[in-house]
Amino acid sequence: MLKKVLLGIVLVIVAAVAILVITVNLRYNRTFDAPYPDIQASTDSAMIARGKYLAYGPAHCSFCHAPMTEFQRVDRGEEAPLKGGFDFKMPFGNMFAPNITPDEETGIGKLSDGEIARALRYGVAHDGRAIIDIMPFYDMSDDDLKAIISFLRSQEPIHNPRPKHELNFLGKVVFSFLIKPMGDGDVPPAPSPDSTAVYGAYIANSITNCGGCHTPRDMMTGAYTGPEFSGGNKFEIIDENGNIVKGKHVMTPNITPDKETGRMADWTQQDFIKRFRDGRAIPGTPMPWGPFSRMSDMELIALYKYLQTVTPTRSEYTLGIQDGDPY
Ligand code: HEC
Ligand code: HEC
Repeated sequence: MLKKVLLGIVLVIVAAVAILVITVNLRYNRTFDAPYPDIQASTDSAMIARGKYLAYGPAHCSFCHAPMTEFQRVDRGEEAPLKGGFDFKMPFGNMFAPNITPDEETGIGKLSDGEIARALRYGVAHDGRAIIDIMPFYDMSDDDLKAIISFLRSQEPIHNPRPKHELNFLGKVVFSFLIKPMGDGDVPPAPSPDSTAVYGAYIANSITNCGGCHTPRDMMTGAYTGPEFSGGNKFEIIDENGNIVKGKHVMTPNITPDKETGRMADWTQQDFIKRFRDGRAIPGTPMPWGPFSRMSDMELIALYKYLQTVTPTRSEYTLGIQDGDPY
């Protein structure tokens, strides 16, 4: 009798695991519908220049889409070709930032303007897969999105095939159930560019993604789990050859205006600008210091003013490189 019960339990578990494995393998590549934004690339030189500025500056496309071997150059704020390069080695598998030069075969040459715009506005790739929440340009204005796509089209095409993403089982589970398209498509018009906190909010939340790294989140699902900009996320360190350093990590500081625990609590506007002009202090951290160093004074002032308006949150973090793997 007991044997039969045990056998029954084992069979139920085996069946449940089999169903999970089958479901996950059927679902992880699932596709989603999202509208194609009505945005067409332009050949207007001012438009292309704005797009290039965003891509190599505040929107830091270069930080992920230039090869890891060019990290030092990108880090100095230079313009390395966006032929693909950052390899994301994550707990759920490896993902490879693609070549976004206009090469027909290995780049974005075959993607329509609408497909590129949809990837950036909704997090839905050209083949319909949902993209993890690392390019949160969902509320970027039509004009800025148009500028970026116009710039992408104007680049020299470079042939550079990239590996296919390699998800492990955990990754397939995450993609089967948790990763979904993001933006709701309800994009407010961009505020006019000036040094106010209103424009700073647009830069921080729609272009530079400060919150993506400085707001606490679940590193597996990407879900936000704590007060805005209060820091505490663990990240890997990259060595000079672009490899992840084993056994080390860095934490994002609290950048809310909390008097005691906020990293910038006693920074003046001038200190903030100077910190961004100075660029990297700790080698190999994921803060895009190089691209950000290209931001204008006006934008940095706007960002500073905006960060002064966010809710001050007490949140301790440890500064500098720490022992222990990031994940
Ligand atoms: C934090 C790293 C990161 C940043 C910053 C970033 N990307 Fe990406 N991008 C990726 C990764 C990783 C993928 C692959 C996603 C996938 O296939 O699931 C990707 C995919 C893409 C794709 C292909 C989408 C498709 O349909 O297959 C385009 C186009 C793109 N990025 C453009 C940009 C542009 C333009 C910027 C700057 C405005 C940018 N990215 C900033 C990491 C990044
Ligand atoms: C891709 C992740 C990432 C993004 C995006 C990011 N940061 Fe950071 N930031 C970090 C990490 C990691 C550190 C700690 C290591 C370091 O200072 O390099 C850091 C450090 C800082 C510091 C402290 C520097 C110091 O020397 O004390 C400030 C201030 C800061 N970030 C502000 C910002 C602002 C403002 C934005 C948006 C414009 C932003 N960060 C975007 C990851 C990020």
